[in-house]
Amino acid sequence: MNYSPLQKARYEYQPKLPLILQNDINDIEVCFGESTQSVADQEKIKEMFPNTYGMKTISFKKGSSKAKKDSQVVGVILSGGQAPGGHNVITGLYDALKRSNKDNVLLGFKGGPSGLLEDDYIEFTDEFINEYRNTGGFDIIGSGRTKLETVEQFKVVSEVAKKHNLNAIVIIGGDDSNTNAAVLAEYMAATNAGVQVIGCPKTIDGDLKNDVIEVSFGFDTACKTYSELIGNIERDANSAKKYWHFIKVMGRSASHIALECALECQPNICLVGEEVEAKNMAMMDIVNYIADVVETRSAKGDNYGVAIVPEGLIEFIPEVKVLIAEINELLAVHEKDYAVLGSWDDQYNFVISNLTSKSANVFKNLPLDIQHQLLMDRDPHGNVQVSRIETEKLLITMVAKELKNRGSKAKFNALNHFFGYEGRCAFPSNFDADYCYSLGYNAFLLISNGLTGYMSTVTNLSAGPQNWEAGGIPITKMMNLERRHGEFKPVIRKALVELEGKPFKYFEAHRKEWAENTLFTFPGAIQYYGPAEVCDITTRTLALEQGN
Ligand code: FBP
Repeated sequence: MNYSPLQKARYEYQPKLPLILQNDINDIEVCFGESTQSVADQEKIKEMFPNTYGMKTISFKKGSSKAKKDSQVVGVILSGGQAPGGHNVITGLYDALKRSNKDNVLLGFKGGPSGLLEDDYIEFTDEFINEYRNTGGFDIIGSGRTKLETVEQFKVVSEVAKKHNLNAIVIIGGDDSNTNAAVLAEYMAATNAGVQVIGCPKTIDGDLKNDVIEVSFGFDTACKTYSELIGNIERDANSAKKYWHFIKVMGRSASHIALECALECQPNICLVGEEVEAKNMAMMDIVNYIADVVETRSAKGDNYGVAIVPEGLIEFIPEVKVLIAEINELLAVHEKDYAVLGSWDDQYNFVISNLTSKSANVFKNLPLDIQHQLLMDRDPHGNVQVSRIETEKLLITMVAKELKNRGSKAKFNALNHFFGYEGRCAFPSNFDADYCYSLGYNAFLLISNGLTGYMSTVTNLSAGPQNWEAGGIPITKMMNLERRHGEFKPVIRKALVELEGKPFKYFEAHRKEWAENTLFTFPGAIQYYGPAEVCDITTRTLALEQGN
């Protein structure tokens, strides 16, 4: 294999650990904090998780470790969409295991949760793992979106664990995968299987966050990658002065990525799905807002601009939100009837005749492409695949139509872009390389201290790795009940953009001047070597949230 000069250099990078984790593993002592409660639906969640509900928060301090010293076999999976830094979670876990006892073994189950069900695995060695240090991607063992939820599946996992003498499984995933981790941990505890389950917070979307998960890993690198590209497009727009660029960015329902890119690049427009919902903005309200900005800029001779559109926007537009909820319910309840419909006409008529008349009207008025995209398969967790809905194109078409209706003189030549996969496998930034390595290393400490049903946490993140704190949080603490596939299920609550939070407030205070004037900022490419103020900076979101 040929390595790029950067890849060779990154092999030499030694990720930074929080001070507490730099101690000899035998000198790290676990501390138990307060008992916890789920964020909502406490009684019901407690009933569903009798063995793993209400556990205490965990931190570590220098002291005498009472952790297991005998050799251990741990399994690990990567679950869901790729996020920069996943390889470092595994290398951190591996290094901690080996540092504790060289006979410890780490097995990587391939292709996500299905690797556990199919007993498809590799045993990591130094030579193998060294190839992946500080690199992007999940290709070390692959990933997948199989949902682990049935008792039959848990029995299989339990058998596989028994076969390999696994005493713990680490699930590296987003909110849905960590929900699965909690359910699996409960099953293993209820059946006395002797298998602990620990989660690690992954997702570029940034929606797995709360008072102790300050950010999910991958968000930092993905946002910096998109911001580099958006900044480049801004400079192109400012040079040619002839195009409006509509850029959709990934993030599922949450607009964290869009907002972070806006804070980094100061575009003319950035839509925030959560605001659209809170202000009950209909599709035409959004179209009018954009058309107003286009006209204001045009009046100054600026027939160009950049607009960022979060991929989840479509789900927040009130009339479309109701429509999507009705379609989700319909496809879940009538799954079999729908599956046998062969032609688009049959599918269209089936959907129209089963929707309320208001939603049927909304559906009928959408362009054909968007109708198709709304009916596409849900992912295994029942989510609409928003990355495949071309909201940016829909907006361009509607804004052009609106300007025409207004008899506007504004020139509106618009181009569309979608930045998603481009950011998911970049070489992790120094922040993500350090954070992920620390999360993996810390996951081992949770395991060796006999804990299960916990998520590995590293906090105080804007203060630099030396000041980071390591610990664990019971996954049930983050749960509530939500409707999925037509029934209420316990799931980790998604963190959406808080409209009262500092990042949004900052954006809100500046967006008018960014819209009317051209105040683009150009973040440039992620830097891995050089001054700390260029290479080790966190996201603007984290800095604003933590008051820096
Ligand atoms: P996770 O939630 O699994 O981390 O995935 C994030 C994400 O990149 C979303 O931003 C995007 O909508 C989705 O995955 C795309 O899914 P897929 O990789 O299956 O196309």
